[in-house]
Amino acid sequence: MRALAAAMAMMTLGPQTLRAELAPVAIAGDAIPQSLTGEAGDPARGRAIVVDRQKGLCLLCHVGPFPDQRFQGDMAPDLAGAGSRWSSAQLRLRIADGSRLNPATIMPSYYRIEGLTRVAPAFKDAPILNAQQVEDVVAFLTTLRDPSADPMSNP
Ligand code: HEC
Repeated sequence: MRALAAAMAMMTLGPQTLRAELAPVAIAGDAIPQSLTGEAGDPARGRAIVVDRQKGLCLLCHVGPFPDQRFQGDMAPDLAGAGSRWSSAQLRLRIADGSRLNPATIMPSYYRIEGLTRVAPAFKDAPILNAQQVEDVVAFLTTLRDPSADPMSNP
């Protein structure tokens, strides 16, 4: 847990100094139905964010179908099959602000600036990921299909 705390501190003190107006977010049930940008994200850019050790830092906690990535986490569900388990609207809320679903989660709220405590000054008015980056991550996660849950791809 000490390594985790250090890594999280690095993440919140990171070089990103983005200042952005947050797009209005409408939550419906356990999901955000509307794209934050109005458009679909780019899965290739999303993958790059997910495996990036500064930007997404997802693999600090998650393991996933990334054979090229060493040192993946074991504190969170496997990202493999996430696109079969969840709709893109459900994935969007889980990335933007998973604390809406589980107030005690250790997963950062990647697109939320209100109600956060212990935020580094550089991040006070900025989300960890901007709207485009959230959409790119969502687009990538929807490609992580579980073959056994996908009747079309069963032999
Ligand atoms: C500090 C640890 C941590 C980080 C960093 C993190 N997560 Fe999570 N994530 C979790 C935990 C723990 C859960 C389980 C849900 C809960 O806590 O309620 C979770 C849940 C999820 C879920 C739902 C999984 C499922 O199938 O139930 C997805 C999808 C997800 N995370 C994606 C991501 C992505 C993408 C990133 C990076 C942008 C990320 N997470 C970063 C800890 C983390």
